[in-house]
Amino acid sequence: MNNVLVIGSGGREHALCWRLAQSPSVAKVFCSPGNGGIGEEFACVALASHAEIIDFCKKERIALVVIGPEQPLVEGLADALAAAGIAVFGPQAKAARLEGSKGFMKELCKNYHIPTAAYGFFDNVSDAKQFLEGKSYPIVVKADGLAAGKGVIIAQDKAEALAAIDDMFSGKIAGGAQVVIEEFLEGEEVSFFALCDGDNAVAFGSAQDHKRAYDGDKGPNTGGMGTYAPLHFFTDALQKTVMETIIFPTVAAMKKEGCPFKGVLFAGLMLTKDGPKLLEYNVRFGDPETQVLMARFEGDLYALLLACSTGRLAEAKAAFGKEAAICVVMAAKGYPGAYEKNTVIKNLGKAGTISGVKIFHAGTKKDGGEMLSVGGRVLGITATGDTLKEAQARAYQAIDLLDWPQGFCRRDIGWRGVKGMGEMKN
Ligand code: AMP
Ligand code: GLY
Repeated sequence: MNNVLVIGSGGREHALCWRLAQSPSVAKVFCSPGNGGIGEEFACVALASHAEIIDFCKKERIALVVIGPEQPLVEGLADALAAAGIAVFGPQAKAARLEGSKGFMKELCKNYHIPTAAYGFFDNVSDAKQFLEGKSYPIVVKADGLAAGKGVIIAQDKAEALAAIDDMFSGKIAGGAQVVIEEFLEGEEVSFFALCDGDNAVAFGSAQDHKRAYDGDKGPNTGGMGTYAPLHFFTDALQKTVMETIIFPTVAAMKKEGCPFKGVLFAGLMLTKDGPKLLEYNVRFGDPETQVLMARFEGDLYALLLACSTGRLAEAKAAFGKEAAICVVMAAKGYPGAYEKNTVIKNLGKAGTISGVKIFHAGTKKDGGEMLSVGGRVLGITATGDTLKEAQARAYQAIDLLDWPQGFCRRDIGWRGVKGMGEMKN
């Protein structure tokens, strides 16, 4: 039997802990730092540095570390663990540049003919501004580095594009010592996942996120207000095209560049009329995409993630059930702007009794007997059902039982899927 350590504190990590704990060969699941909800089911520990994580792994005989967020990956946590002889799910720092540097990702696509938006990559203001001459709008200006979801500006005209370039080079927008400027792509957006072991890749499902804060896809951009899967428009044939034109070439390219990719490739895709194109790579699971992936996953997650780490993915299988799944995020009122903290969330137990519902926690903290809200995105109410409509009804039924006046959610998560699938069985 094996002990596992999950790094992170979001709904994504709660969902990973939950599924890992169901693997027949997993004895105990630890999470660092975790959150209020994770702590009710698993052992939370506060490990502050790479050295502390390594010491803990040795002491608790951790058989696999699963790294949730991008920051520790970009900072080389996977390298440090591998050097200490500890199995880790997640790419090393050089491979994490696929997310950590948009310029690196775009250059790789160009060099290996991977379909993506046409672009320019600049390290100074004047060349970046010069590039705008004769371009059509909207155009997309992206900070090269990690910017916590705030580094992408869709400029509607030249004035907005010029301002975005200034804001990035002046540091007003984080991550912008260099910028990518690219063509605006139109189509349906898909979050697509593939597990990789450095040589091989296996498709690991897809989902659609709702990035805007309010109903009808209005309001400011967020980290994601809800997800659903499966996607009626993302056919097996389309998945095959994505694997063949985007994922396999990326895995081969990364190997050739001397930074084999081990972990999960999260491809942000735009399904354009000219076929699927890569918007961005993340080198980790999505949040809240993981909540629906884990709700639908069937099999031994531990064995699968370990196979990525040990280069044995060719022998592994990823399977998903037939049910549809939805995750509705409850956030603190005011998110993604300023919001209140330390408000009490009641009736979580009652809401969790609805058939097919699992509540994943993100920004929560347990204080005495009370569950407090301490973050922007706070809960991911996740439900499965025979149809997406049924899953959606269950999630909102659970939400209506919650007593948290300081929270809000979108009421239309999954609307594209419900419209597209109708009452059809999945
Ligand atoms: P990213 O952080 O790269 O995922 O970008 C955030 C969001 O901006 C994406 O989810 C898309 O909705 C949008 N976006 C990024 N690049 C483009 C593009 N080239 N064309 C249209 N929309 C884009
Ligand atoms: N939900 C989008 C992300 O995890 O980046």
